[in-house]
This record gives sequence, C-alpha cells and structure tokens, in this order.
Amino acid sequence: MKRILFKSGTLVDPGSGRVWQADLLVEEGRIKAIDSGMAAPRGTEVVNADGCLIFPGCVDVHVHLREPGFEYKETIATGVRAAVRGGFVAVAAMPNTRPVADSAAVVGYVRARGEEEGLARVFPVGALSRGSEGKEMAPLGEMRQAGAVAFSDDGRWLADAQLMRRVMEYARMLKAPVISHCEEPTLTKGGVMNEGITATVLGLRGMPAAAEEIAVARDIILAEFTGCHLHVAHISTAGAVRLVREAKSRGLKVTAEVTPHHFTLTEEAVQGYATCAKVNPPLRTRADVEALREALADGTIDIIATDHAPHAREEKEVEFDQAPFGISGLETAIALVFTELVHKGILNLPQAAAKLSLNPRRLLGLPGGVLAEGEPAELTLIDPEREEEVDPAAFASKGRNTPFAGWRLKGWPVGVVVRGKWIPVRPLPGEGLREI
Ligand code: DOR
Repeated sequence: MKRILFKSGTLVDPGSGRVWQADLLVEEGRIKAIDSGMAAPRGTEVVNADGCLIFPGCVDVHVHLREPGFEYKETIATGVRAAVRGGFVAVAAMPNTRPVADSAAVVGYVRARGEEEGLARVFPVGALSRGSEGKEMAPLGEMRQAGAVAFSDDGRWLADAQLMRRVMEYARMLKAPVISHCEEPTLTKGGVMNEGITATVLGLRGMPAAAEEIAVARDIILAEFTGCHLHVAHISTAGAVRLVREAKSRGLKVTAEVTPHHFTLTEEAVQGYATCAKVNPPLRTRADVEALREALADGTIDIIATDHAPHAREEKEVEFDQAPFGISGLETAIALVFTELVHKGILNLPQAAAKLSLNPRRLLGLPGGVLAEGEPAELTLIDPEREEEVDPAAFASKGRNTPFAGWRLKGWPVGVVVRGKWIPVRPLPGEGLREI
C-alpha cells in the first residue's frame, strides 16, 4: 500500500472537537503523521487539500443495496460506487432483500460481495425475525458470526412485544444494537404520506405521527427492560424526539438517526403527487423538521443516515398510491448536511463529523472516526464552498429517485480514502481554480 500525503487540509476531529490546518500522511492504511510543512517521502502520492475539509471517513448506517433479489433497483457493485461518490467509506446494508438477510448464508454473501468490489466497505445488518415476518426469531448468533454488525427488520416494525423482548436479550448478549423501524402498523395501514392537512387536500390516506411515537415508546421501554442498545432508525416526528431525549436523560442505551430528507423537506414536497417524495416514514410538518434540527444540535439525534432506497424508474412513475416508498440518498447526503445544517449554523464542523463518522462507527462497533496518528486512515474530503446542482442522471446508483433533482447545494465530497487508496470523486478546490 502506498503512501499518500494530504497537504494543507483543514482537519476536523470529532473526537477532540478540534479544527485546524495541517498535512496528513497516510501509510499502510493508517494515519502515520499529522504535522505542518511535511515533506513527501519518496514514492508518495501528494494531494493538495488546500481549501478542503478532512473528516474521518463517513459511514452510512442505513442503506438498501437490494442484492440479492432486486438487482434491477441496485446491486452491491452500484451501491458501493454510489457510496464513494457520496463521500462514504462504509455502509450498513439493510436485510430487506430477497431472500431476506435472515441467515448466515445471506449475511456472508453480502459481506463477501462488498469485499470483492474493493470500494466502500459493506457491513450487513441481519434480520430480527425470519423473513422479517415478525413471527419467529432469526438465528442472530450465526448471523453475528457471519459478520452482521446489527439487527433490524427495517421496513417493518417487530410488533410482537414478546419476540422483540427475546430478540433484544440475544442482541445484548451478542453485543450488537437493534435498529428499529418504528411504525405501529395498524395506524399506518393503507397510508401513503403524513396524516394531516396536505393529505386531506390531496385526498391521500395518512400515516399519523402517533404510529411512530407509540413504537418508539414501546421499544424504549423494552430496551430499558432488557438492557439492549436500541437504535431508532429514521426518526421523523417531534414527539419521537421528545421520547428519545427523555430516554437519554435517564442514561438508557438509546440512539437515533435522521435522514437528510427528513431534516430538509416537509410533507408539502408531496404536492403534485410527487412520488419521488414518497418515503417511509413520511415527510412530516415544519414543526417536526424544526424539532429534528434542534435535536441534531443538542445531541438527541446522534447520527445522520440516508435510508438510501433506490427504486427503478418505472416503479416510481405510477399513481402515488401505487409507488414504492423510498429516496435514493447516498449521493446528496453530505451536500444536504452542509447546505441545510453546517452553512445555516445548526451544526458546527466537529458535530457534523461526529454525526457522519464517529457516532455511526460507535453504533456498528467499528474503529476509527477520529483524526490522530495511528488511527485507521479512512477519510472523507469535502469542499465546503463547492456549489453544484443535483443531477440524478450523474448518479452512480441505479436509483435516480430523488426529490432534490435540480437543487443547487453547497458543500460536496471531493474524495475518500478507503482500503489505503485515494479515490477522487470531484475536482479539488485548487484544480477548480486552475480551470478558470
Ligand atoms: O422509504 C423507505 N424505503 N422506507 C423503508 O423503511 C424501506 C425502504 C425500502 O426498502 O425501499
């Protein structure tokens, strides 16, 4: 593995909260040195990082790679390319594939395919229940041994409280978190968007905030009962935020993630029956978005994750009721974090790096997430000033289903270091200037 020297980058370390300009030398996949005015040893690749932020490598704890079974939507090969283009060095792959990742065989397959690609690393999430059907426990121990980093029936809530209790007891023993898709299903049956005034005007069936909040409340109670680490996936309502905040204040092992679409858009994005904004949980109200932003700032929400849910064009180009839920999120996430949170003063740089790198790694039990000598050298370089229009046609993902097409966003990833390699994805700020 060769040496790479990043010159004059602005280092952002969520571990210490420091932001400073320095050179950073990568050797053998580790951070060898951080210093100013470093000379490049012979045979070193030199990258001019002047004007770039250097984050520890960003990790997305919630993506749907669709393989095996739905390769027409996405494959592990296209998914890891989308991850790298979006500035992520690793992703956790949700188990709602066909077959469901509810066995060591499927978990092992997803992991091995990820390794074969040699780009962003792929960490499989195993199902809680067989087929994610909520009836029988999946073989958690075997999946853990095969490389599962967490357990989830994502896409569905495990409604059977006794089964959830048992699953949490096992997950605790296996030292893996349970990631819960919090949605009480009798309240959301037939729903396609948030319940409220917009749904009424559009004549669409709603999914109330209470469905999410009931599920979050029960899962927090079971997490307390069992001592299991509960991670609330794609939190979307002010009431759910309040419940997580209260659980944390009592010292419970509860964490939460929010998606860029939930902290950016309201239910009004659905107007005109825009299926690209049909997502589950649904986009909520302005008050909910404000509560999510506040919760990001005060630490109630630990992680920003995309819920990258690619779908084929023909699946989304149908009546609103018929379209599948989901947004292709990997390639717009970091630009939305910068445009909506960092540039607006909601998160400072170390906080943004914590929510994109350090906290996701802690959730999945991965090392790294801090910038210090000797640490694993997974990095994400970001040009905070770069402005670019979202162009789904340029996505590496097969899923071009995004409500952000044509949005002009500021702050884009320019490259990553993963597996000891520097992979540029956009021009460096210095190169951009030379072009003019
Ligand atoms: O919008 C969503 N899409 N939410 C989910 O929970 C599942 C996901 C999918 O798999 O498409």
